Amino acid sequence: MSDTKATNITAQSGVPATPLVPDSGSGHPLVELTHVEKYFGDLHVLKDINLTVNKGEVLVVIGPSGSGKSTMCRTINRLETIDSGDIRIDGKALPQEGRELASLRAEVGMVFQSFNLFANKTILDNVTLAPIKVRHMNKTEAEHLAMDLLARVGVDSQASKMPSQLSGGQQQRVAIARALAMKPKVMLFDEPTSALDPEMVNEVLDVMVELAHEGMTMICVTHEMGFARKAADRIVFMADGRILEQNTPDEFFEHPQTERAKDFLSKILTH
Ligand SMILES: Nc1ncnc2c1ncn2[C@@H]1O[C@H](COP(=O)(O)OP(=O)(O)O)[C@@H](O)[C@H]1O
Ligand SMILES: [Mg+2]
Repeated sequence: MSDTKATNITAQSGVPATPLVPDSGSGHPLVELTHVEKYFGDLHVLKDINLTVNKGEVLVVIGPSGSGKSTMCRTINRLETIDSGDIRIDGKALPQEGRELASLRAEVGMVFQSFNLFANKTILDNVTLAPIKVRHMNKTEAEHLAMDLLARVGVDSQASKMPSQLSGGQQQRVAIARALAMKPKVMLFDEPTSALDPEMVNEVLDVMVELAHEGMTMICVTHEMGFARKAADRIVFMADGRILEQNTPDEFFEHPQTERAKDFLSKILTH
């Protein structure tokens, strides 16, 4: 693959690099879910979820379709409410609504499966919008930051184009830059490469690997096992709304503990 475009997050010539990762001590719990329960009507989708993600940790969440991976991610920035339990970001409980919720959301960056750029705004405007609106950054400052981030993900030359003029892989890299522009404490990725043509998967994964190496705290739902082995500190295996296993990639892939995990791995690793 051609990787000149995607792997220059750290090596940017000329432009002073904006630190991507807020520097406030390492190793403390940044995301904590305690006894989280969630129903959709009668459907029990999250069952006693207990999960702690420390600063700088990279989690890869895997599991069969319908096991609650997306719902769990969406509860972390409160795109979904929970029925009981507790979720904390950097020690603070998730606010219910209003200004506090908006500021918490700003601390949690999210990149989804489908490209969710604003179709009627340029790439540059997509990235500057939230820093201007939510962080009250002035336009010049926001554009400087946006160009820096777009350069890091290798799409700065596309800044004046509209999203539809970019490939899927480029759009996902813009979505990552847009999330980073809010200087989030943690980044959530929900199958960010699953809607991409195969030849574009690596350019997005490369950006994610670089972010991981820079120390970003990340929760990634992905079935890209190469990425999991390369970047994950921990694999979280979910099935039927529960976390069944949490382990290092080596331990998880070599010695899965549950039948569900063995069965799942045999299906995804054999083709
Ligand atoms: N908004 C919703 N309303 C009702 N059921 C939902 C909703 N979103 C997800 N579900 C159901 O919740 C379960 C978990 O879904 P999801 O979190 O998307 O799983 P995964 O991401 O692991 O595939 C599935 O059975 C799904 O059909
Ligand atoms: Mg999902």
